[in-house]
Amino acid sequence: MANYLIVGASSGIGLAVTRELLNQGHKVCGLGRSLEALHLLQQQHKNLFVLSYDIQTLQSQPIIAEAEKHMGPIDVVFLNSGVASGHSLDDWNDAARTVHTNVTGTTEFLINANAYFKQKNSEGVIAVNTSVAGLRGLRQAPVYSASKAYLINLCQSLRSQNKTSAGKVRVVDIRPGFVDTQMAGGTTWMSSTDKAAKQIIAAIHKRKEIVYISKRWILVAGLMRLVPRALYERF
Ligand SMILES: NC(=O)c1ccc[n+]([C@@H]2O[C@H](COP(=O)([O-])OP(=O)(O)OC[C@H]3O[C@@H](n4cnc5c(N)ncnc54)[C@H](OP(=O)(O)O)[C@@H]3O)[C@@H](O)[C@H]2O)c1
Repeated sequence: MANYLIVGASSGIGLAVTRELLNQGHKVCGLGRSLEALHLLQQQHKNLFVLSYDIQTLQSQPIIAEAEKHMGPIDVVFLNSGVASGHSLDDWNDAARTVHTNVTGTTEFLINANAYFKQKNSEGVIAVNTSVAGLRGLRQAPVYSASKAYLINLCQSLRSQNKTSAGKVRVVDIRPGFVDTQMAGGTTWMSSTDKAAKQIIAAIHKRKEIVYISKRWILVAGLMRLVPRALYERF
């Protein structure tokens, strides 16, 4: 059984992953800003710990320490939190929410999670919820797709650094297509949150490095890469 710290556990994919992990007998410390759903879940699961955390505050070091105090040494950090704003590219304040959450806050958390595992010399896992949307610039969601491209590259760089320095930390890049949450940007090949949760947990346990949720999105990813730029930009 493992101890999971989940950033963005309060709704959608994060909440479904939290519920599934608890059903499988793992311990979870769930973070987020709106904690009603987690507190309800806590009534049925003594292995769930809930902490209020806004990733934009860049205070991950003390929150990691607090999570450890509640549930013991952490085995997996799942960086799931994310927002999708900045679609018009006309308004920095709108775009800033996505940059501060998906890019700045997630980078700060990832750096401190990596330092936590390194300091313990433990075989920790850092899983990051990126997106198929990060594979190429998306006209419909420019700041969001750029933030996810950033995270995909960050995962790859950290994985490569850890491999070449004989580091023990494993990095898992989770790339959903459409999952049935408030954030979902479309309806094609939509997975339920429960199905996505099971696939995410299985990928972490099977020591996968990159996983598409669901598998059929591998096809879309391949096509997105193949389409010539001039054609892609007219979509
Ligand atoms: N649904 C899809 O189709 C899809 C596809 C590809 C990738 N994804 C990615 O999957 C992840 C989860 O999204 P979802 O679809 O499950 O949407 P969601 O239901 O809106 O969940 C977003 C999660 O992020 C947390 N969050 C947002 N801002 C935060 C902040 N400042 N500090 C801490 N936590 C914050 C939210 O918690 P609070 O609001 O309580 O803070 C919530 O738990 C995101 O990274 C998203 O980009 C989703």
